[in-house]
Amino acid sequence: MATSRLAPEFHPILLSRLEEARARTDAIFQLLPPNSSYERPIPERHRLIFYLGHLEAFDWNLLGGPLELPPHDADFDRLFAFGIDPVGGGLPTDVPSDWPSIAQIERYNRRVRDLLDQSLHDSRLLRSSVASLADGTLLHVAIEHRLMHAETLAYLLHNLSLEKMSACAGAPADPRPAPKPRQVTIPAGLATLGQTPGHPRAFGWDNEFDAQEIHVPSFSIDVFPVTNAEYLKFVHAGGYENSRYWKNKDWEWRRRKQIEHPHFWIRRSSSSAADPDTRWGYRGMFGTIPLPLAWPVYVSHAEAVAFANWAGKALPTEAQWHRAAYGTPDGIERCYPWGDTPPEAKHGNFHYERWDATAADAHVAGASGFGVFDLLGNGWEWTSTVFGPLPGFKPFSFYPGYSANFFDGKHYVMKGGSPRTDACMLRRSFRNWFQPHYPYVYATFRCVEE
Ligand code: AVJ
Ligand code: FE
Repeated sequence: MATSRLAPEFHPILLSRLEEARARTDAIFQLLPPNSSYERPIPERHRLIFYLGHLEAFDWNLLGGPLELPPHDADFDRLFAFGIDPVGGGLPTDVPSDWPSIAQIERYNRRVRDLLDQSLHDSRLLRSSVASLADGTLLHVAIEHRLMHAETLAYLLHNLSLEKMSACAGAPADPRPAPKPRQVTIPAGLATLGQTPGHPRAFGWDNEFDAQEIHVPSFSIDVFPVTNAEYLKFVHAGGYENSRYWKNKDWEWRRRKQIEHPHFWIRRSSSSAADPDTRWGYRGMFGTIPLPLAWPVYVSHAEAVAFANWAGKALPTEAQWHRAAYGTPDGIERCYPWGDTPPEAKHGNFHYERWDATAADAHVAGASGFGVFDLLGNGWEWTSTVFGPLPGFKPFSFYPGYSANFFDGKHYVMKGGSPRTDACMLRRSFRNWFQPHYPYVYATFRCVEE
């Protein structure tokens, strides 16, 4: 019987990629301003200190068993095993003194890396009876899990106080004018979601299998993601004051949290005579700048839906997004919007090129076969599709909750990628998700019309 095995691209390459991924996350912890490790920059999430232990504990919990390594610190393995799912329930109430010291965690981390590495560099590994270890799946999981946290750590640091962050670097303003919004019509055709387990099989998370072909009727889609300039019109038109644009639960959330503009915007108290556009500042990673009109707006799903309702449009489904991104006029589906060649910096704002967004029309070379811009990078894009399994979904036996815990009808699929998304996660089948009331993600949107 043919079992699916990952390509033996193999251990030396995967081990050096794990090394690179560790260097990425180490560098982010280096960036932490003094005395901030016990802060909780996002109220719904763990304190930063959790993540210092989490990356190593995750790798240990994943690989230790299959490598037949005896536990050396079961308490830390458990303490740092899982993050918080911010849906429902109250906010976490732990205090800094509930957590171990930085030195203790660093000692644990060094021990984990040493033990794992000794064992991972042993060639017997390839013949391990644990198939997911031998075929490289577990290493892929460790690498991509870590790189996803390189991005989620950026969201966290983005919410540290500016006094702390602006000491690190400046924030250059971007005065470029926003591109004029326009739409393009996508003819009816097929969109392929997910991927087929091949022989040898390519890596993908559990939620990327199996492939699903969907026939998508004709629709129009925005050529650019909605920019801060476009979104400003909605804000100035009273979008945050009028419940009729919002779904009931979203309006309730907006009211409870007293949200009046995108999380990344800063309202400036200036004279009423001022140009409306100077009334808004923007929180970049390392400082405040005038609202960059040409950048895609970063908003929660709730705010994206409200804008779409106001504009008389809708968010794309996951299949519509695929069709606009990967479809071509001649009916062939490609691996990337620009074709089948691997991502390069000219194609979009991803892979740590920048800490913040850039103009939505900056990457002509990244446009899709239908002329849709800025699909990969510069901000994940919300869809109207509730996150759920593709037909044939099977959870990973070694991590059954990775996706399935979020198949609860309360999360939406995001596609594309952000400035902090590693190039390895720009594959077509990759699916990201968040709940609709989480405004801290580098997530934007574009609209469709039927
Ligand atoms: C896939 C980005 C939604 O951050 O909640 C990290 C990734 N899962 N550790 C998240 C994840 C467990 C996940 N997202
Ligand atoms: Fe995690």
